[in-house]
Amino acid sequence: MKITIIVGTRPEIIKMAPVIRELERQGREYFILHTGQHYSYNLDRVFFEQLKLPPSKYNLEVGSGSPAEQTAKILIGVEKVLQEENPALVLIEGDTNSILAGALAAVKLHIKVGHVEAGLRSYDRNMPEEINRILADHCSDFLFAPTEKAKAILRGEGIPEEKIFVTGNTIVDAIYQNLEIARSSANIINALNLKPKEYFLVTVHRQENVDNQARFASILEGLDGVAAEFGMPVIYPIHPHSRRTMAEFGLRPRGLRLVEPMDFLSFLQLENSARLILTDSGGVQEEACILSVPCVTLRDNTERPETLEVGSNILAGVSPDRILKHTRLMLNRENKWSNPFGDGKAGERIVEILLQSRI
Ligand code: UD1
Ligand code: UDP
Repeated sequence: MKITIIVGTRPEIIKMAPVIRELERQGREYFILHTGQHYSYNLDRVFFEQLKLPPSKYNLEVGSGSPAEQTAKILIGVEKVLQEENPALVLIEGDTNSILAGALAAVKLHIKVGHVEAGLRSYDRNMPEEINRILADHCSDFLFAPTEKAKAILRGEGIPEEKIFVTGNTIVDAIYQNLEIARSSANIINALNLKPKEYFLVTVHRQENVDNQARFASILEGLDGVAAEFGMPVIYPIHPHSRRTMAEFGLRPRGLRLVEPMDFLSFLQLENSARLILTDSGGVQEEACILSVPCVTLRDNTERPETLEVGSNILAGVSPDRILKHTRLMLNRENKWSNPFGDGKAGERIVEILLQSRI
């Protein structure tokens, strides 16, 4: 069974890595098709090198562009590759424009689609990711739901039981496979002159936050307030998208330390030793939960409600007062929750299910 693995952005590479490792370990026939949505070294190649992934066989090099332009270029490019390679299955991960176009190209060629991290919903259709994940789920033949909750959402949308598999989230695999290495080899805490548990970590990059001047300004004011109240460094590895709009809007946060986006091992070490994380990232909400670090989410909703339920995360929105209030609240909460995202064997399970399926 020939499998095409589609990736396009940083989180897809990281979360697909455990599946790729398992396919490699078993010597299965597969190849990686990179859309080129992310192309900067520190959003792309660094993860292939560090996670020791084989190079992609194809890179469509679509780069950045308007949603339609980017999605259309990927759709056309993926279709050509699939026609040439004729795989039995296309595997996609997450909720980006890359995976929506990948799923659509495959389904129209009657090629089976597997969606890793299926069934997540924020119920906010203003987010491009929400549309992407709904459509990708409904194009898929194999829906790998990370939790029972995600499965229930899919069942509620009429997706048949036999298409859904609860596997856990591959981010747990990625963390378990890399945390020890990060602890022993990454040197970011020293390099940034930080003390474990005496700094905050921030990431903000979602379109609905950083493309909106009022929201972005409000978040930065809240973060400045956190830096001022607690007197600890606030480290912000800034996505190039956010760096660009911050400059366009003329925003100049005073209390934050902006650093370049990092490799996965450094970022993992930084997350693991943070006193608290403030973020609008989906993956970072999960990682904070798994690493037992409290999280304040700078959004009005989340497609990771499991983190709210176990108490590792709280929704603060973007108002400065609420960011400060929720930070205080999370700092006083006991970090005693259990990880709802699985046992670190999701990658193995996904490969096993596909091989058993005899497609
Ligand atoms: C995309 C995903 C988002 C995901 C994020 C992961 C969509 C709609 N969005 O957002 O869900 O959370 O990836 O990080 O698919 N840029 C660079 N270098 C790059 C890539 C982008 O500098 O390698 C800059 C460009 O200015 C570009 C901007 O980032 O215009 C936005 O890139 P884009 O791929 O559209 O979306 P992300 O914000 O990265
Ligand atoms: N990440 C990283 N370096 C950074 C910031 C994030 O390696 O400087 C990793 C992080 O550990 C997580 C993933 O990138 O696994 C999250 O990606 P992102 O926040 O860009 O996307 P989202 O999860 O919101 O789609």
